[in-house]
Parts: sequence; structure tokens; C-alpha cells
Amino acid sequence: MPKPALMGNWKMNSDLSSAVGFVEEFFKHISGIEGKIRELFDVVIFPQFPLIKPIVDSVEAGARWSDLLRVGAQDIQPEDRGAFTGAVNGICLKSVGVSSVIIGHSERRWFFGDSDSLVNAKLSTTINMNFEPVLCIGEPGEIRDKGEQDSFVLAQLETAFDSVKLDSISAISLAYEPVWSIGTGRNATEAEIAPMIELIRGFATKAGFPGGGANLRILYGGSVNPQNASELYSIDGVDGFLVGGASLDALSFSAILDAMAGEGE
Ligand code: 13P
Repeated sequence: MPKPALMGNWKMNSDLSSAVGFVEEFFKHISGIEGKIRELFDVVIFPQFPLIKPIVDSVEAGARWSDLLRVGAQDIQPEDRGAFTGAVNGICLKSVGVSSVIIGHSERRWFFGDSDSLVNAKLSTTINMNFEPVLCIGEPGEIRDKGEQDSFVLAQLETAFDSVKLDSISAISLAYEPVWSIGTGRNATEAEIAPMIELIRGFATKAGFPGGGANLRILYGGSVNPQNASELYSIDGVDGFLVGGASLDALSFSAILDAMAGEGE
């Protein structure tokens, strides 16, 4: 079972100086509990593409910290190379030290038109290239209002994993991010999250994930902050978070980690 994880999706925020400043601040804040963090969690941030390499460099410059913070990409193009203006391929991501890739975020699906079949292709590429995929799933508000969230999320999972070679998955994160909870200050409750975790685990078993889903962690995302992190993390089956807004500030991001480690109580 991979360790629980805290992941920060910076979306289209930050710039070079604030990104490098974040790394310094973050390490300052976790100084003292770094051994515990190293033992208990994987921590990954997903900045905009041009910030990936400077962040990797600045993490590696502090040898004592270099295994404490990994860097991921917010997207990947499925093809190896070629005429895809504006896109970034896995070869390039590998070369700058990316470990994990977010796929199928609702903002990509909505603003950039990432279709189910494109999500499926991106997932396949990510797994074949040995990145850790962080696949986002989650229903819009009107679907939950109609009580159709289970079939909606199941359909997202089924199309995303269609014909994907599962035996090569070494670690995968599925992030349940109900669209209505993203950036709204309204996090999902235990009553809403727990059945979804059961549904996702059930899918993993049925779909034939290696070891019945032993390599799978299930994250929750949507208005997670230092105040609600402890309660959300106590929900059975929540293996960590994918955080948006509260991941931009090193203090609030590390406070979420404190809450997960039981340090903030
Ligand atoms: P917020 O934490 O800002 O609600 O965003 C969640 C999210 O979309 C992470 O991918």
C-alpha cells in the first residue's frame, strides 16, 4: 500500500519567485517533524509547467530535504512527440524530474474539453511511462442533486480505465473531487465521501487492479483547509488529499500536513 499523500494542485497560480519561496517556507515549517513526515506521507506539488524544474532544483539543493517533496505535472499529452503546439509530453516531463501526473481534473474536462477518450489515453500513457497517475473523478452539483453521483463516477472510472494495462500499475491515486466542492468553501461530508470510497475500492477490485487495489490510494479534494483537514482525514479510507487553494501558501499547506500527522491538535 503506498503511503497516504498530501498533494497540492497549484493550477494556474504562482510564479518563479513565489514558487522558490514556497519551497524554503515549507521546509522551514516542517522542520522538527520532518522525520515523521518522511515516514508517514508522500508530499507532491503540481505547479505550472515552467516552474517544475526550478522547484525540483531548489528541493534537491537542500540535501536534507530532497526526499520530502516531489513535483508533479498538471497534465500530459498522450503522444510521444510531434506537432501538438502548446502540449507537453511525458519524455519532457521525465527529463525535468516529474514523478506524478494529474489526469482528468474537472477544470481540464470543462475548460479544455478533455473528453473521456482523451482522459483514457492520458491515463494509459502515464501508466506506461511509469509516472504515478492522479486521476480525478467527481460529479457536478446537478448530478448529486438528482442522486446520480454513483453511476456518474462509475462511468468516469470505467471509461478512464477502458483497455488500460493494469498489471503495470505500481502506484496510483484516485482523487474524488466533487465539482461542487472545488473552490467553494463547501467540502463534502463523511456521509458523502464514505460511500464514494467504497464505490471506488469496489471498482478497483472488480477491474482487476493488482493485489485487489493494494497500490491504490484514494484522495479527497474540494475545499480542504487546515481547519477541516483533521476531520476529513479521520474518515475511513481517505488516504490523503488533493488540495487547491490552500496548497499555495506554505503555511497552510504544512498546517494540513500537521493535521494529518496529528500534530496540529
Ligand atoms: P480547492 O482545494 O481550491 O477547492 O481545489 C481542489 C482541487 O481542485 C484540487 O485539484
